[in-house]
Amino acid sequence: MNIIVTGGAGFIGSNFVYYELKKHPEDRIICIDKLTYAGNLETLEAALKKDKFKFIRADIADRRAIYRIFETERPDIVVNFAAESHVDRSIENPEVFLQTNIIGTSVLLDACRKYSIDRFHQVSTDEVYGDLPLDRPDLFFTEETPLHTSSPYSASKASADLLVQAYHRTYKVPVTISRCSNNYGPFHFPEKLIPLMIINALSDKELPVYGTGENVRDWLYVKDHCAAIDLIIRKGRVGEVYNIGGHNERRNIDVVKTILKELGKPESLIAHVADRKGHDRRYAIDPTKIHEELGWEPTTKFEDGIKLTIKWYLEHRDWWMGIISGDYQTYYERMYDQRAKMEYAKI
Ligand code: NAD
Ligand code: TYD
Repeated sequence: MNIIVTGGAGFIGSNFVYYELKKHPEDRIICIDKLTYAGNLETLEAALKKDKFKFIRADIADRRAIYRIFETERPDIVVNFAAESHVDRSIENPEVFLQTNIIGTSVLLDACRKYSIDRFHQVSTDEVYGDLPLDRPDLFFTEETPLHTSSPYSASKASADLLVQAYHRTYKVPVTISRCSNNYGPFHFPEKLIPLMIINALSDKELPVYGTGENVRDWLYVKDHCAAIDLIIRKGRVGEVYNIGGHNERRNIDVVKTILKELGKPESLIAHVADRKGHDRRYAIDPTKIHEELGWEPTTKFEDGIKLTIKWYLEHRDWWMGIISGDYQTYYERMYDQRAKMEYAKI
């Protein structure tokens, strides 16, 4: 099978590329990524050495480039991870979120219609459901929870979900959608809570906790998310939405304290800073549907996953130091001449 993975140079997309190459060595993976600030080709260095992997730099909103890639690569499955993904950036400047997350998704859906694929999978987020109150631990997001977004990021992801469902109903594009809770693990860009706190703690810098730190996120180790998507694209029912999460709810302040404890750093590094505008209070997924239909369940508990993640950041200083110094952004230019398998679609 030919599988297009968009956004494969980012956090979850790259983990998915490695998951698929290992689990299904018979399949070809074609990664499309624009290499925005969040995309890092160094992350895909090991994949680039494999015959079954190909990297193409392109913008998912560039219709000509996307059609050309579909024409040449003839994908059976398309998994769309490509997105602007950081809530704080969406509050600063929403426009690029609309361009990539909505227009980009619509271009991919048009390409899927034109070249009739077997499956288009949209990687969505639990943030499309809005938030839950802190004093109702009995409430969870199910697939039936109404969409009720808070940030420009979540509004753009919800818009994309609606388009995906519209293309299924109107044009019979064979789609699935997954809505996952917060991920953590290797290759997580250090603007997000967990990698930022690990790196700041290692550098004895302040750990900026928004507001009181009582907001709750439902953490899932990234490999468990990849396993769920792999199941959905191969066995999930067309037209369906699947929630993904592993009942690993933690308050931000407790996550930060756990990281400090693991690293042997003092809690005096914690600095409570101004709260995020419109800050969602609690996310919590009910994963009953994917468990009952596809037999998925998470394998990594938060206590173990956070240790694995900290260990990974300790052992891969070059990776995140390259990001902090900005070196990773010239990697494509440095490597482009040497790598025959990469193609450049003009962006
Ligand atoms: P990320 O920001 O780490 O990576 C996004 C990738 O998309 C980058 O490689 C970037 O270069 C690429 N990209 C951005 N705009 C593009 C464009 N116009 N064309 C082509 N490529 C483009 O994001 P992530 O955390 O890996 O998230 C991946 C997907 O999973 C997103 O759709 C996000 O909404 C969803 N998601 C993330 C989480 C989470 O906790 N990180 C949870 C649930 C769902
Ligand atoms: P983040 O990793 O940005 O993911 P999301 O907003 O998609 O949940 O943030 C996770 C939580 O951590 C969220 O409640 C905001 C909070 N946060 C901080 O307190 N300080 C920070 O520096 C960051 C980046 C996030």
